[in-house]
Amino acid sequence: MKKLENKVAIITGAGAGMGKVIAADINQDRLNTLDAEVKKLGGIITTIKADMANEVDVGAMINIAKTTYGTLHILVNNAGVMDNFQPVGEVDNETWDHVMKVNVDGPFKAMRRAIKIFMENGNGNIINIASIGGLKGGVAGAAYTTSKHALIGLTKNTGHVYAKTGIRCNAIAPGAVATSIGETIDITKITPMVQDRIMTGMALNPRIGEPNEIAAAALFLASDDASFINGAVLVVDGGWSAY
Ligand SMILES: NC(=O)c1ccc[n+]([C@@H]2O[C@H](COP(=O)([O-])OP(=O)(O)OC[C@H]3O[C@@H](n4cnc5c(N)ncnc54)[C@H](O)[C@@H]3O)[C@@H](O)[C@H]2O)c1
Repeated sequence: MKKLENKVAIITGAGAGMGKVIAADINQDRLNTLDAEVKKLGGIITTIKADMANEVDVGAMINIAKTTYGTLHILVNNAGVMDNFQPVGEVDNETWDHVMKVNVDGPFKAMRRAIKIFMENGNGNIINIASIGGLKGGVAGAAYTTSKHALIGLTKNTGHVYAKTGIRCNAIAPGAVATSIGETIDITKITPMVQDRIMTGMALNPRIGEPNEIAAAALFLASDDASFINGAVLVVDGGWSAY
C-alpha cells in the first residue's frame, strides 16, 4: 500500500520512503549511498548536502522542494547529534551550542519555512524525531536531554496552534536504536558518576530497536491513518520507558 503516494517529503539526517523524497544530510557519502539505494528500488529522490546548524542550508533545503517538485507535504526533522552524556557541571559550551543548533534550531528554522508552504496548501505534516530523552531526565547528557525536551515543546505548540489549518505536527520518541549515532559519542568523556547513574536506567532497556521500526512509526504519522493524531509524542522504545 502506497500510503504517501504523490507526497513530497523532506527528511533531514537522510532517510527513505515512498513518494518523492528530498534527503538532506551533512554527510555527502551517506547521501550518495542513499540516492543509489532509493533509485534501485524505483523511488524518486533528490539529495542535498545541508547542515541543519546553518540557516542558509536549511533555507536551501526547503527551497529545493519547491523548485524540484513544486511543493512540500511532509517535513521529517530527523537529523540529530548526541552529547557524550555530560551533565550540567561537565558540559562545555561547544557541545551545548552544537547540540542546540542541530537538535533545536535546525528543526525550528525548517518548520518556520515549511509552515509557509503548508499554510498556502491548506495541509502539511511535520514529524520531529525527538527521543525518550525528551521525556526523561536520565538517558542522555544535559544538552541532549534539554534539546529533545525543547523539540517536544515546539511540537506541542505547533500541533496546538495550527490544529485548524490542516497541518499536523507530532514527535516520535525513540528508545535505543541500532544506528551510527554511537560513533559520535566520545566514551572517554563519561565519568564514573555518569556511568553509575545512566547505566542504572540502561539496564532496564529490554532491547535495541531497528531503524525500520522508527521509520514505520513515521510512515504511520505521515499518513492519513493518523489523521486525528496531532501534537502527540509517540514513544517507540520497546517498553523501556514504561517502567
Ligand atoms: N539511535 C538512537 O538510539 C536514538 C534514540 C533516540 C533518538 N534518536 C534520534 O534519532 C534521530 C536520528 O538519529 P540516528 O540514531 O539515526 O543517528 P545517526 O548518527 O545514525 O544519523 C543521523 C544523521 O544525521 C546527520 N547529521 C548530523 N549532524 C547533521 C547536521 N548538522 N545537519 C544535517 N545532518 C546531520 C548524520 O550525518 C547522520 O546521517 C536523531 O534526532 C536522534 O537524536 C536516536
